Amino acid sequence: MNIVFVSSEAAPFAKTGGLADVCSALPVALEKQGHHVSVFIPAYRQIYDAHLPIETTGIGYCVPVGKNEVWGEILRSTLPGSDVPVYFLRHDRYFFRDGLYNSGGVDYQDNCERFVFFCRSVFRAIELLNIPVDILHANDWQTGLVPAYLATLYQNGRAIGTQTELFGSALAPPQTPEKSGDRFWDKVRSVFTIHNMRHQGRFMQQEMDLTGIDWKYFTFDKMEFYGQLNLLKTGITFSDAITTVSPEYSKEIQTDDFGESLQGVLRYRSESIWGILNGIDTAEWNPETDSNLAAPYNAETVFEKKPLCKAALQRECGLPESADTPLFGAVSRFDWQKGLDLVADVIPHFVESRGAQFVILGTGDPQLENRFVELAARYPKNVAALIKFSGALSHRVEAGLDVFLMPSRYEPCGLNQMYSQRYGTLPLVRHTGGLADTVIGASDETIANGTANGFMSYWGTADDLQKTVEWAVHCYDQRKDAWRQMVLTAMALDHSWTKSARLYSDLYERIQMLG
Ligand code: ADP
Ligand code: GLC
Repeated sequence: MNIVFVSSEAAPFAKTGGLADVCSALPVALEKQGHHVSVFIPAYRQIYDAHLPIETTGIGYCVPVGKNEVWGEILRSTLPGSDVPVYFLRHDRYFFRDGLYNSGGVDYQDNCERFVFFCRSVFRAIELLNIPVDILHANDWQTGLVPAYLATLYQNGRAIGTQTELFGSALAPPQTPEKSGDRFWDKVRSVFTIHNMRHQGRFMQQEMDLTGIDWKYFTFDKMEFYGQLNLLKTGITFSDAITTVSPEYSKEIQTDDFGESLQGVLRYRSESIWGILNGIDTAEWNPETDSNLAAPYNAETVFEKKPLCKAALQRECGLPESADTPLFGAVSRFDWQKGLDLVADVIPHFVESRGAQFVILGTGDPQLENRFVELAARYPKNVAALIKFSGALSHRVEAGLDVFLMPSRYEPCGLNQMYSQRYGTLPLVRHTGGLADTVIGASDETIANGTANGFMSYWGTADDLQKTVEWAVHCYDQRKDAWRQMVLTAMALDHSWTKSARLYSDLYERIQMLG
């Protein structure tokens, strides 16, 4: 099949989180299964920092954005280690900026306009590059307009899914397709993957004019959300199939607790929602070949070499080298989602009661950044606050820690718990989303039957986290054999993309059969 992946991020070109990892690893995995895949992202300033060859295709174009015709250019590269082409859609006034979505924590005022331009450009670029398409696979709110453009402007208002049947509103009179007289788009079907329900791309309703989509779609079953334009909802309501990045999260988002006010819309489309667990890029995250590590290792050498990585990390962070001190840590966006405020709450207890050490690598919420900086100043021998974004360092942290902390309030999938397991670092997580699907918490029973591969907390409170960390410290100090077994169990897990890519293939095949 011919699959076009549309995303606002793809590693190593542009990344703020796991979306980028998924949108570069999954296309490569699909290509390995025999599909033809191409990827489209905006030409951000950051794409040049990857130091990979980027060339121009020499193709320029114009697309309507509101009343204006906006010029764009198509650049090209390939995803590392593959022939999968990545096309960058360039308009420097929109994308050549400090951050991807914001600067200094403040969202860009023209985010709607920027992603209208991007989504419209995808269609124009596909036509100009003459790329065959069976499936358009869009990701998160930034690309929510892609399924909408397909169904409205390019397919004359084709009806989608249960909701349309229920409300009948998308059975619109035909509009002029942009490539008139051409059936190129007729058989194309769309998939929309939700990586995070909380970020929805909500804008003032006037911005509907920028989209070029008829106002008749500005309804509660399509693009409207409490009077605003909602691009995540747009992706959900116009796509042929919806996926989320873990089976557990696909159920959670249909509940009042996790649906972020879109649970009703999701329940209407329940039959079209698939939960497919993310995999990880096992070439990039391989402790045996990882050139960032002081002493690369595998399951046979882990107990000899991993301590060298731990010592190197302690040195790098200015913490005293100590093999017997439990070293906890995290690599994360500092965001309410991640529950790192709870980590900050419990650090003093474990520093004072056990002399434990903590290495926290991340950026985001300035208050939380300050809290970790203050904790590092208060406990210089125990806490290192690394307030930056560094891929290389994130690998050394993964390898050096004993326990990776992820007490997320919600977690659509989460990748770091899987990176941790592959590096023999036990993840300590909260039972939610993909964390619940990938971690089996240590208990007497799971230790005895050899399935334990991490630690599980349930309630999302500092008290509960403290108890779980207490249990991890106990296992670290008193149950050394069990610990070694858990490390080996975790390292033996198969988190590669193979299985999930097959599920995506199945899904693509099914929706191709839709009318
Ligand atoms: P999310 O996408 O919600 O942030 P994930 O666990 O899916 O969470 O993915 C986060 C990705 O971003 C991982 O690859 C992680 O290593 C990376 N990451 C987050 N913060 C940093 C940082 N400060 N430096 C380097 N990598 C980071
Ligand atoms: C989101 C989620 C994270 C998920 C990632 C990739 O950013 O927060 O849980 O792993 O997308 O799907």
